[in-house]
Amino acid sequence: MAKIQIALDELYDWQEQVLSCPTPNRLLLASRRGGKTLLCRRMAIEDLVRGRKTLWLAPTFDQTLEQFRQVQATVQPIVKFKRQNKEIHTHTGGELWFKSVTDPSRIRSQGFDHVIWDEMAHAKSMDAWTSLRPTLVEMEGSRFTGATTPAGFNHFKDFWDERVDNPDWTTYQFDYTHSPHLTPEKVEALRRDMTASEFIQEMLAGFIQKSGALFKPEYFDEMLVGKMPETFQRRMMAVDLSLGRLKSDYQCIGFGGVLDQVLYIDTKLVKMDLDALNRLIMNMAESYNPERICFETNFWMGGNVSAFTRLYKEAGKPVPVIREIDSQGHKETRVSRLAPYLARGQIKVLDTRDGQRGVGQMRDFPLAKNDDFPDMVDMLIQSLNFQKRA
Ligand SMILES: Nc1ncnc2c1ncn2[C@@H]1O[C@H](COP(=O)(O)OP(=O)(O)O)[C@@H](O)[C@H]1O
Ligand SMILES: [Mg+2]
Repeated sequence: MAKIQIALDELYDWQEQVLSCPTPNRLLLASRRGGKTLLCRRMAIEDLVRGRKTLWLAPTFDQTLEQFRQVQATVQPIVKFKRQNKEIHTHTGGELWFKSVTDPSRIRSQGFDHVIWDEMAHAKSMDAWTSLRPTLVEMEGSRFTGATTPAGFNHFKDFWDERVDNPDWTTYQFDYTHSPHLTPEKVEALRRDMTASEFIQEMLAGFIQKSGALFKPEYFDEMLVGKMPETFQRRMMAVDLSLGRLKSDYQCIGFGGVLDQVLYIDTKLVKMDLDALNRLIMNMAESYNPERICFETNFWMGGNVSAFTRLYKEAGKPVPVIREIDSQGHKETRVSRLAPYLARGQIKVLDTRDGQRGVGQMRDFPLAKNDDFPDMVDMLIQSLNFQKRA
């Protein structure tokens, strides 16, 4: 028998990982333009070659049409016949059916070995799943794949949440950094048309609440504490000068002490000249005695470090250990790293007026006018190498 070759793209690591999923059912959240649909096509092509019967679902007919064209061009050498832009049958016994989810009543039990649902979160409801479920349960060895970017706290979010800890399902979540073709330039170009919350949803593949806030409100219920512990295992200070951007920005100084896997923060959010600010930092350093003081040094702010050390020399005091941090990358990416710590209650803030303000900035991020506090907290976590609680 003649050998037939089909040319395929080399998959990325995350795509390989999803392809070799150990459970019959899988849900994939990934960034816009990350490579979800290409991966779905690969699955459909493998199914065709192996003689399986597969259903491809997409939100609209146009979307299925595009995939019909692409798949059929790839598997051309083994195509036996096609039907109305809706079905591909191969000499290997494979069948690939395309349907849109707009009319779930038409998606009836057809005995599919595999159902692939692309852009699942963008369907108006999960009704198609209800129609398909009986066949998938009855067919021995049948599989289901749902791939999508999130679309807020909608029905798909509920669907996802119910399956995260279900042993029959595997859930995957990959942000743009996993897809090498999404270079910084491309991400920047995509980002230009997005709000901060859209960026989190579309590029970081994160669920955003309707209100637009990044973090769940309940994370903040028990965040403020009446007093700081007496002793700490680690002690650090961070300073976000926030100059040169918006006039409305605050300067944020924070002390962070670690005790039993909890980070306790005392913060000052102020608007003052650098001289007064440096004195305030010095006062805080004298009362908390941190191992290091971290200064954000992007833009021209680095120059302040020498003014700060001069203050110590003039007072005849030993200069504390200073670390300059150039906060790289997008603010949303950095701040979103705080989520696991917040979810596990590992961040506590001293209940002062500035502490309350800082917690407010974090609760409303990225909608709040100011975000100096969340940025400063990220600096503390990075410089302490503070670990997530298991
Ligand atoms: N493994 C890969 N190798 C090379 N290019 C890829 C790979 N995966 C995806 N791409 C390319 O990335 C772009 C977006 O892929 P696509 O699957 O349409 O993304 P999504 O469905 O997540 O929006 C396409 O141009 C696609 O060819
Ligand atoms: Mg796609």
